[in-house]
Amino acid sequence: MSLDPGIHRRPVPLARAYRLLNHGPTVLVSTRHDGRDNVMAAAWNMPLDFDPPKVAVVIDRSTFTRRLIEASGRFALNVPPRALVDASFAAGSLGGATLDDKFAACALRSFDAQVLDLPLVEGCVAWLECEVIAEPHVQQAHDLFVARVVAAQADERVFSDGRWHFDASTDALRTLHHLGAGAFLASGEPVQARPVGPTPD
Ligand SMILES: Cc1cc2nc3c(=O)[nH]c(=O)nc-3n(C[C@H](O)[C@H](O)[C@H](O)COP(=O)(O)O)c2cc1C
Repeated sequence: MSLDPGIHRRPVPLARAYRLLNHGPTVLVSTRHDGRDNVMAAAWNMPLDFDPPKVAVVIDRSTFTRRLIEASGRFALNVPPRALVDASFAAGSLGGATLDDKFAACALRSFDAQVLDLPLVEGCVAWLECEVIAEPHVQQAHDLFVARVVAAQADERVFSDGRWHFDASTDALRTLHHLGAGAFLASGEPVQARPVGPTPD
């Protein structure tokens, strides 16, 4: 299974962007300001609205990412697959402030976003470009950032027709769910709910 997403990357309609995060993957938050690019892991992220789509993510005040987001007002959420588990954990362990190139230090590569001036992470399976909605009190008190999604893309091999399709043939592209201390679950088998209760005659 090739990780090069270039030829498989497809735009996702904004009204479906929430589904890229609905199943709770750990994401990579990528940032750019004043010639510096950075990336960090974030498990505490969630969709917040359908259309226009919004997201929320906790960005601790001690991180370099926080500085870049506060300066630029934007970030991207990149959804890494299991093939990037080591790089994703490294992005959640190393501090970018003292590194020349955190992408390189984590064995990650970037490409330019479509709409915002941001780096996106190569080899991921979904990408959301986000503009911060300023909520100074919430940011200061809870390290929580709310943002509007202005562009979304996904790897068509695992996300098409507005939903994820994980199966044995795309094992390396399953998303990551953090249990703690570097242990993750890869997204599992789909289970389809059916209506309950009496069926009408
Ligand atoms: C799997 C994983 C998930 C994490 N989730 C979050 C999170 O949701 N919010 C946060 O502020 N830090 C989170 N972290 C910690 C940051 O990724 C970590 O502090 C990182 O080194 C910050 O990098 P930076 O200083 O280059 O921005 C997580 C770390 C790991 C390994």
